[in-house]
Amino acid sequence: MSGWDAPLLRELGENTRRLAALSTQQPPKPTQTRIFTISNQKGGVGKTTTTVNLAAALASKGLKVLVIDLDPQGNASTALGVPHQEGVKGIYEVLTEGTPLAKVIQPSTESPNLACIPATIDLAGAEIEIVTQIDRDKWHNLLKNSLEEYLATIEVRPDYVIIDCPPSLGLLTINAFVAAREVLIPIQCEYYALEGLSQLLRNIDLIQKNLNPQLALSTILLTMYDSRTKLASQVVSDVREHFPSQTLNAVIPRNVRISEAPSFGRTVISHDPTSTGAISYMEAAVEIAFRGAQNGR
Ligand SMILES: Nc1ncnc2c1ncn2[C@@H]1O[C@H](COP(=O)(O)OP(=O)(O)OP(=O)(O)O)[C@@H](O)[C@H]1O
Ligand SMILES: [Mg+2]
Repeated sequence: MSGWDAPLLRELGENTRRLAALSTQQPPKPTQTRIFTISNQKGGVGKTTTTVNLAAALASKGLKVLVIDLDPQGNASTALGVPHQEGVKGIYEVLTEGTPLAKVIQPSTESPNLACIPATIDLAGAEIEIVTQIDRDKWHNLLKNSLEEYLATIEVRPDYVIIDCPPSLGLLTINAFVAAREVLIPIQCEYYALEGLSQLLRNIDLIQKNLNPQLALSTILLTMYDSRTKLASQVVSDVREHFPSQTLNAVIPRNVRISEAPSFGRTVISHDPTSTGAISYMEAAVEIAFRGAQNGR
């Protein structure tokens, strides 16, 4: 055997073993709907990629998942194969006009267990419309109230609601923090990864104290890990040291299958289920489910 293909063969063997392990693991259904917000005001750290791939991974294991796209870029809607061009009704109408979630929910092409509330570009103006047209005491509760009403009236509740946030700490993100019970922070394994994290933690703390005492930073997921760099492993050990109980064992590698999947309107879970990227997101999803069960969530 020539030397150059040995690492590739090793990876293939390793992936086969990981897939076999995953096939025997059935993530438990949570006792009540787990509501996650995927937040980090840093741009491009993998919030949307994490939202859609965890959602698809849980759905592929038979759990019912609702994704709420709260980012005007609408990237989560794209990746889930859900139309979100101008004119489509979505989270904008929910927040600014009080349209019930049930009226704007759309099935995802990914899985019959997966649905999405799309975001259109209209959402870019929503924060200004909210502060100019809605009473101040309602600003923060718009998403929470809609979601509570939805969950109270539907027949079969989702097991997971996953909210994809924009890269800012504005009113949309605050609405997500108030509607959610758990925060998942994706952290990119890069040099500036921890910059801005203390501001994010301060904000979560402020929301806990003032607006949503139920909110917990339950999960940290390391993303875009490149095993060839020392820096990436340094970030991993720093984050594990600071957040030992929240950081998942599963780490998401930098993987081209993950980044190309959205251009097919798919997640990596359906695009290439045997890729290292898909396997890693499946492992993260299963770990989140088992940790939740352990912690009574
Ligand atoms: N593990 C990965 N391997 C390779 N590429 C990735 C990975 N995770 C994310 N990407 C790519 O990195 C870019 C940023 O990811 P993503 O859109 O998920 O970040 P984000 O935090 O949602 O960004 P924004 O702040 O703009 O909403 C995208 O092009 C995505 O395809
Ligand atoms: Mg995004």
